[in-house]
Amino acid sequence: MDFVTTGDGSKTIFNAQIGENYHSKHGALQESKHVFLKTGLQYYLEKESISKASILEIGFGTGLNFILTADHCLTEDIKLDYCGIEAFPLEKQVIESIGYNEYVSKPLWEQYISNYDSALKQEVQLTEKINLEIAHAKVLAFTSPKMFDVIYFDAFAAIHQPEMWSDETLAHVTSFLNPGGVFVTYAITGNLKRSMKALGFAIEKAPGAPGKREMLRTVKL
Ligand SMILES: C[S@@+](CC[C@H](N)C(=O)[O-])C[C@H]1O[C@@H](n2cnc3c(N)ncnc32)[C@H](O)[C@@H]1O
Repeated sequence: MDFVTTGDGSKTIFNAQIGENYHSKHGALQESKHVFLKTGLQYYLEKESISKASILEIGFGTGLNFILTADHCLTEDIKLDYCGIEAFPLEKQVIESIGYNEYVSKPLWEQYISNYDSALKQEVQLTEKINLEIAHAKVLAFTSPKMFDVIYFDAFAAIHQPEMWSDETLAHVTSFLNPGGVFVTYAITGNLKRSMKALGFAIEKAPGAPGKREMLRTVKL
């Protein structure tokens, strides 16, 4: 696992086995904020005019998407239930040394790090309004009695992990999404659009994060 500095100065991890970074080389921080927080969660909250949401993330990794989302929710007084699916959890020490503490409030960061290992075993309450669970499982083995409002789909690219983008995987993860719920991902391809349409989603091309013209946002009908 090597740290790589991306275009906006934030770091990511290079996974040599897969041959890909955990985030965009153009900027890990700006990608996470743009694709998941702004185009996913903020869009959902504005659309529904509510101040609570549950999020299911596919590919929890470092937890960058989680901490930026949790920090935003703390500032805006939004209740957040977050579940990240991760087949190969990173060691806490790796996450501690990546420098993401700079991007969120100190108490939130400390709560995240001190509860990371527990969150891998069960749901933990980080603050009065923020709950986190990291489901240590391969995506197709994931089950939950819960339904979610927003899906952050942050798998490695289809060229490296095509099985993550298969109809079977997409059908499985979207079965946990409420009607009216939002599915976002950094990528957009013809295959992905066709699969999501066939699953009963309204498709929308949204502006991509720096380095990508477009990304996909879909809403469950
Ligand atoms: C692009 S990275 C996600 C980056 C992450 N969201 C972050 O902010 O650090 C993809 C993640 O998917 C995980 N992964 C790979 N295969 C998986 C599988 N079959 N099921 C669940 N997670 C998987 C990887 O271990 C990696 O953490």
